[in-house]
Amino acid sequence: MSLWNKHAIVEKNSILLLLGVLVVISIGGLVEILPLFYLKSTIEKVEGVRPYTPLELAGFNIYVREGCYNCHSQMIRALRDEVERYGHYSLAAESMYDHPFQWGSKRNGPDLARVGGKYSDDWQRRHLTNPRAVVSGSIMPGYPFLAQASLDADKIDEHMKVLAIEGVPYSDEMIAKASIDLKAQGSDDDPNAADLIRRYPKANARAFGEQKGVITEADALIAYLQSLGTAIDFKIYDDKANMR
Ligand code: HEC
Repeated sequence: MSLWNKHAIVEKNSILLLLGVLVVISIGGLVEILPLFYLKSTIEKVEGVRPYTPLELAGFNIYVREGCYNCHSQMIRALRDEVERYGHYSLAAESMYDHPFQWGSKRNGPDLARVGGKYSDDWQRRHLTNPRAVVSGSIMPGYPFLAQASLDADKIDEHMKVLAIEGVPYSDEMIAKASIDLKAQGSDDDPNAADLIRRYPKANARAFGEQKGVITEADALIAYLQSLGTAIDFKIYDDKANMR
């Protein structure tokens, strides 16, 4: 009996065929799944990606509280039309410290993954208060109350502690200095701004609002929006690619 004839045994016996199929599929499955148990992370670290500053984190919380994700995604797909409209496609590392992540699946408004630095703080402030004041025909709701509400971030250090448990690299120093850093980032020429930027490279430190000495919810949200997509200097990678 040749090998080919032996195969007929399996083909004629459905139970045996089923068992054979299961064995083959499980080998394929194990090969794909087992390595994941030994990898610490499937996300490649990328230079420049850092955790949010306390003020940006407070802004992130307002973004989630107000449900901005219902209309805005934060993930630029690796498709030509997306990259031409929004910039370099999103990398996994760029949202590795977002808990919960804000990729979203609904785009009533544009993707916000790289909106940081696209507009001035003033534009963002006017847009949040009344989108139609700057973009005629916009269907985005206004959030005028955010500029009226002073930011309640007394417990931001507690939030950072929880995120640290989830793997966000907040050091003890960052947690201890949270409220000092928060104030330093939201004010003009604060003496602690240099320390803030040492802890959180490239952080924008300035008064985001018009009311001097008061940090509002709108200021925190704008600090967050202005940081989006600005962590990685893609020029370095593009130049390297061009040199090859
Ligand atoms: C009902 C859907 C909806 C909600 C909710 C919403 N937006 Fe928008 N957003 C839009 C639309 C539509 C646009 C495009 C028109 C415009 O610029 O106003 C937009 C534009 C924007 C832009 C400008 C983006 C760009 O690249 O031009 C920003 C920034 C923004 N939204 C932030 C927010 C924030 C922050 C929140 C939550 C506080 C929010 N949006 C909630 C629909 C929404």
